[in-house]
Formats: sequence, C-alpha cells, structure tokens
Amino acid sequence: MPLLVTGAVGQVGTDLTAALRARHGADAVIAVGHRTPPSAAFRAAGPYETVDARDRDALDRLIRKHRIDAIYHLVTLLSGAGEQNPDLAWDVNLSTLKHVLDLAVHHKLAQVFWPSSIAVFGPTTPRLNTPQRTILEPTTMYGVTKLAGENLCHYYALRYGLDVRSLRYPGLITYKTFSGGGTSDYAVEIFIAAIERKHYTFFVNAQTAMPMMYMDDAMKATLDLMAAPADHITVRTSYNLGALSFTAAELATAVARRVPGFTWDHAPDFRQAIADSWPDSVDDGQARADWGWAPDYDLPTLVDTMLAGTAKRLGAKG
Ligand SMILES: NC(=O)c1ccc[n+]([C@@H]2O[C@H](COP(=O)([O-])OP(=O)(O)OC[C@H]3O[C@@H](n4cnc5c(N)ncnc54)[C@H](O)[C@@H]3O)[C@@H](O)[C@H]2O)c1
Repeated sequence: MPLLVTGAVGQVGTDLTAALRARHGADAVIAVGHRTPPSAAFRAAGPYETVDARDRDALDRLIRKHRIDAIYHLVTLLSGAGEQNPDLAWDVNLSTLKHVLDLAVHHKLAQVFWPSSIAVFGPTTPRLNTPQRTILEPTTMYGVTKLAGENLCHYYALRYGLDVRSLRYPGLITYKTFSGGGTSDYAVEIFIAAIERKHYTFFVNAQTAMPMMYMDDAMKATLDLMAAPADHITVRTSYNLGALSFTAAELATAVARRVPGFTWDHAPDFRQAIADSWPDSVDDGQARADWGWAPDYDLPTLVDTMLAGTAKRLGAKG
C-alpha cells in the first residue's frame, strides 16, 4: 500500500507525511519534495525523493519505482504567491494535478487526495455559512486553479471511476512550518512576532475574518475522509470544511491575554482584497453527514497550542 505525498516539504505536507507515517508506517509513505530542502529530522524519518511535478515522466517513474497505490497531491503555488506569478500558478497547480489524475487512472491507483481551498469562493458567494453548492466566481488565479481542479477531479470520478477525494481547506494554522505565501499567513505570523517582538503588524484590517483551522484538525479530516467507505462520499468536487472563524482583532486580543505587553496594528496590502473575496464561515454539514467530520480545536485551545509550539520551535532554532 505505498503512498506518495507530493509537496511533502510544504506547510501541509510536513504534517500530513508525519500523520500518514504514524498510521501506515514510515516506509509506506514516500515523501516527495522539490526545491526546498527538508530538515535533517524530516529526511531521516522515511523515504524521500525530489521531483518537479510538472514532469509527468518523472512522476510516472516514482509511481513505478515504489509501486504506489495512492497519491496525496499537495504541490501548489498558494494565493499570495499565485498573484505574484499567475502563469506559474496555472502551470504548477493544474498541470501537476492533471498528471496525477492521468497516472492514477493509468496505474489503477486505489485513491487520490487533492486539497482544494476556500479560495474557490469569490465576492459573489454568500459570505456567512457558505453552502456546499453555491456561486463559485473566484478572483485570484489560485482560486481559478482550485475551481478548475475541483471540476477535473469530479470529471475523473465520473468518467473513469477514479476514487479521488478532496477538502476545501480553510486557512491552516501550524507552528511546525512557518509560511507558504498564503493569505491566512497572518494567523501564523502573529505568534512568531508575539514571541520575538511583542508586536505584530497585520497585512489585513482588524475586521477581516475567514474560515481557519488548526492543522491537527485538518489532518484528522484528511485521514477520516480517505478512510471513509467510498459509497459514503457524495461530493467529488470538494467538501466544505469548517472549524473556526475569528476576526484579526479577536485573534490579537486572544494573544494579548496570554502575552503581557503585546501590541498590534494594521497595514493592509494586496492580500486584503483576497481576504475580502473569501467567506467568513462555511457550512460543512455535508462533510459531517457523509463521514462524521467534527473539529476538536476552538480559538483558546488553538492560541495556547500555537504559543507553546512556536516558542519551543523558535527556542530550538536559536
Ligand atoms: N496552507 C493553507 O492554509 C492551505 C489552505 C487551503 C488549501 N491548501 C492546500 O493545501 C495544499 C498544500 O498547501 P501548503 O500550504 O502546504 O503549501 P506550501 O506552499 O507550503 O507547499 C507547497 C509545496 O509544493 C512544492 N512545489 C511547488 N512547485 C512544485 C513543483 N513544480 N514540483 C514539485 N513540488 C512543487 C513546494 O516546494 C512546496 O513545498 C495545496 O493544495 C494548497 O492549495 C493550503
């Protein structure tokens, strides 16, 4: 049952590789990186390969070499990075997904996981409790690629019977990797700034809210979705997935309660418009009904966990 994780050195990949290894055994999970060198600990934890996932033949060789049975395809250019280089975002996000889906059909792989995002939504989408099926008019290239990718997954499930599953991850918060060029990065950066400088300048305004989730909840959702019986899966585009929704000001206030002397201000940049185009909260009733989704982390637990974990990580670095 060997599994391939592409984008394994990224923010999600670091945690997902570890979660899959804990469940299936270290040798059963082949971590695939690209240019970012992995830490020594990551490198030592199990099999590791590098590939440019736009190279279909190279991916094909990896699948054959390791007799891969399922792929977790995490390669991406995130929203902020995608707006800096839309052509590259289109190429990286969609050509690699198409390769993975084609190779999965060709090699008759058991499963594919590919994350979508709240970036599929846009300013015309209902902002509060956004329904599973709704208006999808994204205004970023990242969102455009996620929407096209969702439809591609749906098509491969219908046309080829491929067992491809997907989640619309909200902004993900973790201390284990620091940043990947996403619009929700402020909810990670604030903890580093609070510990290092007791001050943080948000790149969004105080009222900005978007769906967010602690990384452990996202890993639980991913493993639960992939373990669910196939006939429970009624959504082959991508499931809405909710956990938390808080404004930048509410997050800062929660941090200030725990870090005496912490202050913050706001200097919105181009990511404000991206954040404004996304919902405040999503309705994930379909995920709850189909495969029992329920998050564990609320805001106080998340802030406590992030402060402790970030302090430990920064201490270890220094
Ligand atoms: N982090 C979040 O908050 C968030 C939210 C919603 C959805 N997602 C989705 O989760 C998945 C993983 O995102 P992430 O946050 O870990 O992103 P990330 O930027 O941290 O990691 C992406 C990885 O892809 C790799 N990559 C880029 N181009 C490549 C190429 N041509 N070939 C091989 N590898 C390449 C990068 O080296 C990087 O390690 C993506 O599909 C993303 O859209 C993430």
